[in-house]
Amino acid sequence: MGTWSSDTLKSATLRLHKAGVENPGYDTTKLFESCLGKRIYSLNKEEIDTIPGKIWSSFENLIKLREQRMPIAKIVNEKEFWGRSFHVNTEVLDPRPDTEVLIEEALSEEFGQFLDLGVGSGCLLVTLLVEKPAAYGVGSDISPSCIRVAGINIERFGLKDRCKLVTSDWFSEINCNFDLIISNPPYISKDEYETLQPEIRYFEPKIALTLEDDGLESYRKIASEVSKYLNHNGRLIIEIGFGKYHQVKRIFERTDLSLENEIPDLCGITRALVFRKV
Ligand SMILES: C[S@@+](CC[C@H](N)C(=O)[O-])C[C@H]1O[C@@H](n2cnc3c(N)ncnc32)[C@H](O)[C@@H]1O
Repeated sequence: MGTWSSDTLKSATLRLHKAGVENPGYDTTKLFESCLGKRIYSLNKEEIDTIPGKIWSSFENLIKLREQRMPIAKIVNEKEFWGRSFHVNTEVLDPRPDTEVLIEEALSEEFGQFLDLGVGSGCLLVTLLVEKPAAYGVGSDISPSCIRVAGINIERFGLKDRCKLVTSDWFSEINCNFDLIISNPPYISKDEYETLQPEIRYFEPKIALTLEDDGLESYRKIASEVSKYLNHNGRLIIEIGFGKYHQVKRIFERTDLSLENEIPDLCGITRALVFRKV
């Protein structure tokens, strides 16, 4: 036996705890399992103690990244959304469980052509395409890196023939109409951004989170044009930030869309608004 042993796992957990990581034990296990390629519970102490040194070395490298507060998803380049695993990197926002409420709402009725405005990793676009095999999707983003990552995920799920990706500043390069427009835009204000935990502030792309404004500029931009791109009876499903319900509602009152539904997240807080073009 070399210098590596099951005690290494304990000391890694302690190091993560000292670095301020919220769930150090869970993260240690996740990172160790990603090096090992299997679940840790299938091994006894003796088996752990005979794991080859090169696995422990890669584990040590991952622990160092997590000590710097890099999120697990960014370290292993995978993040789960709606039961599927997506490729992610530091150029795209990691898909969030709260965003799944947008999918649930979207799937509640039929749609043909849809637009995912601010496609990021492609988690919304891909999920809707897989769940609605007759639908066609357009994914747009201002960031060419997001378009690249969304492309990787589209390939992964074999959806190339059923969608198109466009680099676009909101609607600038969009030239058709949709039954559904879905969007999770940046909605963190400049002040809120300064208070975010290191995992988000230093490892998520700034453009996915904030326009360094009051957290409402994305909604103003989208509201000013969205109606032109919706078919009659079409829906806009848009994620909103905590505490922004009244302000976002007011912005969309100036459009010809009518508010149809307010969707709570897992904590019961309004997380998305649904508007319809009547
Ligand atoms: C909160 S992220 C959402 C990503 C993904 N849809 C999701 O739900 O995980 C917002 C996305 O909007 C994109 N974005 C920011 N400003 C934009 C703009 N002016 N036009 C189009 N996309 C923009 C960002 O690059 C980012 O990918």
